[in-house]
Amino acid sequence: PNVQALATSINKSSLVPERYVRPEAKVEPVASTDDIELPIIDMAKLIDQEFSNEEASKLHLACQEWGFFQLVNHGVPEDLMEGLKVDITEFFSKPLEEKMAYKQDNDGTIQGYGQVFVLSEEQKLDWCDMLYIMTRPVALRNMKYWPTSPPTFRDNIDRFSLELTKLASCLWNYIAKNVGVAPEVFAQLFKDHPQVIRFNYYPPCLEPDKVVGHSPHSDATGISFVLHVNDVQGLQIRKDGEWINIKALPNAFVVNLGDITEILSNGIYKSVEHRVMTNTENARISLASFQSPDNSIMLRPLPEVIGDGKPNYGSISYQEFMKAFFDKQLDGKSVVDTLKL
Ligand code: SIN
Ligand code: FE2
Repeated sequence: PNVQALATSINKSSLVPERYVRPEAKVEPVASTDDIELPIIDMAKLIDQEFSNEEASKLHLACQEWGFFQLVNHGVPEDLMEGLKVDITEFFSKPLEEKMAYKQDNDGTIQGYGQVFVLSEEQKLDWCDMLYIMTRPVALRNMKYWPTSPPTFRDNIDRFSLELTKLASCLWNYIAKNVGVAPEVFAQLFKDHPQVIRFNYYPPCLEPDKVVGHSPHSDATGISFVLHVNDVQGLQIRKDGEWINIKALPNAFVVNLGDITEILSNGIYKSVEHRVMTNTENARISLASFQSPDNSIMLRPLPEVIGDGKPNYGSISYQEFMKAFFDKQLDGKSVVDTLKL
């Protein structure tokens, strides 16, 4: 069912349907009620010779200790950011019938407007609707999932997807240097890479400690970018065994490294588990974009990273890895953990 419609139909006398009730939302420890600011990485400094080394060290520390950081001064034009945010907000505020013109279509991809993939009758559901589209390479786009209204939406998605590609390839150079491989190694593995953008709508919930907006998972990607579209927080990451609430600066990208980077870096960087929680008052709207390697690659720790040491992960083809990821429900990091030696 559409969660936005469900959320509007629930009132104080009706309850959240059983399928959405997640006991863990209440009992799992949350380290602090305060929102914690993630490390901030300044892209302008990273590419400025004078500050680059210092900023790259901060990046390394953030990747090692958090697996997450916020990217500021990233150079994505402000009018594009603002325009896209307006388009996304308008799209989700359209009547259900209009959004359903872009619904998921069992076409072998999970593109379209709908909910997270459902694998079994027992599976608990997330308190979230989304529009999921493949944005790159351009040849793989299926325009039937790209809304034509608002009229600027398609063009803004196209421009934005290119900006994200540029950001990712720039970050790869510094990540490569930080783990001791030639700057082009990661960029090459992710060249002309598949990219997906997922627009998320998390309705408010009268009983937020019963539901989970997005189930705990680590990203099966190289690198992911999250943009807070309406500045409503709700992202939590698992740090030292406890969930902590993350606060993002307006227009910063929340960046995290995915499972693919964990394997390639031989675990120097870990792909950190995260989830999304809801609140009673405001819908949360976010954009998440995933940068993946070419479909044909073999995943294994890079020989240059291993050096004289030992690999900490076995190898698997990227395709097999993704199959395993989509065949299971989201519950933490178990696919990458099965590869640990
Ligand atoms: C996710 O893709 O992990 C959720 C991102 C978000 O909505 O913050
Ligand atoms: Fe994620």
